[in-house]
Parts: sequence; C-alpha cells; structure tokens
Amino acid sequence: MAIMDEISEVLLTADDIAKRVKELGEEITRDYEGRDLVVIGILKGAIPFMADLIREIKVPLEYDLIAVSSYGASTRSSGIVQIRKDLDTSIEEKHVLIVEDVVDTGLTLKYLCENLRSRHPASLRVCTLLDKPSRREVEIVPEYNGFVIPDRFVVGYGLDYAGRYRQFPFVGVLKPEVYQK
Ligand code: IMP
Ligand code: MG
Repeated sequence: MAIMDEISEVLLTADDIAKRVKELGEEITRDYEGRDLVVIGILKGAIPFMADLIREIKVPLEYDLIAVSSYGASTRSSGIVQIRKDLDTSIEEKHVLIVEDVVDTGLTLKYLCENLRSRHPASLRVCTLLDKPSRREVEIVPEYNGFVIPDRFVVGYGLDYAGRYRQFPFVGVLKPEVYQK
C-alpha cells in the first residue's frame, strides 16, 4: 500500500506552508535586524521546516542542531527528556532561535529552554511550525508560530509516526487505524 493511502486528510498543503514560512522569515528578519542569529533546529522533526525557514531569513546566521529524546514510537509524551546530541558550538552571548516542528505538551521545549538558558545566550526565542495549545501541560508560548492546529496527531513536513512519513511536503492526519494497530 502506498504511504499516501495512510493519510485521511491534508491539513496544510505545501503552498500553505511555503506562504507562512515566508511570512515567518520576514518577521524574524525584521526582529533580528542588526543582530547575528544562531538558529537551532531540533532533530529530527524540524529539518524540513528549518531548511525552508533559514532561506527566508535575511540577517546573518549560523545554524546548529540538537537532538532530544521524545516519544519513541508512541503518540504520547513520556515527559522524560534527554539530550542525545548536543550543539557543536557555544551559544554564550548569542541570539538564539530554537526551531521546532510542533509544540504539544510543551515538555520538550520547557526542558530545552531551561537547559539552553543556563548557557547564558544573549536572547532565546522559539519558532514552531505547529502549535497545539489545547494539549499544553506546562507553560510554553512560542514567539513565532506557523499554525495553531487542533488536537490531532499529524505527520509530514518533518513530523513522523514511528520514524515514517517525514518526507511529505504537506501536513496531514494519519488514519487512526495506522497507529491503533
Ligand atoms: P511535547 O514535548 O509534548 O511538546 O512534544 C513535542 C514533540 O512531540 C515534537 O517535537 C514531536 O516530535 C512530537 N509530536 C507531538 N505532536 C505530534 C504530532 O501530532 N505528530 C508528530 N509528532 C508529534
Ligand atoms: Mg517526533
């Protein structure tokens, strides 16, 4: 069966995403004018979003990647966060923008923001492609937010279920029977 057949609904088309990513890039460019930026992508989900977003940001920037443990193969957060691959570079005195695919319970970002703040960056902000505020368990308010979405488990454009579906150029809803098996 083709992987497309496992999608019940497309929530955001590739065009919707491209348009919004351009707007976010313009907003970030305005806000960071005159400053150098370090963009930190959270592996693996943020890769397609970060790759598109940085090309819409017109201030000088470096990017780095960090990997944290999250759900494993499940659709629920364990609440236990671990750094699996740390940054290569120091962020001390740097303006840092964390790029994430989706903020759900907020547990991952709360942990990561606290960890990165202890390294004394000049500033620290969060840019997420998707936000599910109805699912929040801890207070995290991303400064930049692509789309607010309802409490649905979505895949595509970096978002996975059990490591799959990340390559879709759109964001879609997985048929429940795929993960209820
Ligand atoms: P949080 O710690 O609960 O905010 O979860 C954040 C992480 O959970 C994200 O980086 C994703 O890896 C994963 N996640 C949350 N919701 C979804 C979803 O709808 N689809 C795919 N991954 C998700
Ligand atoms: Mg994930």
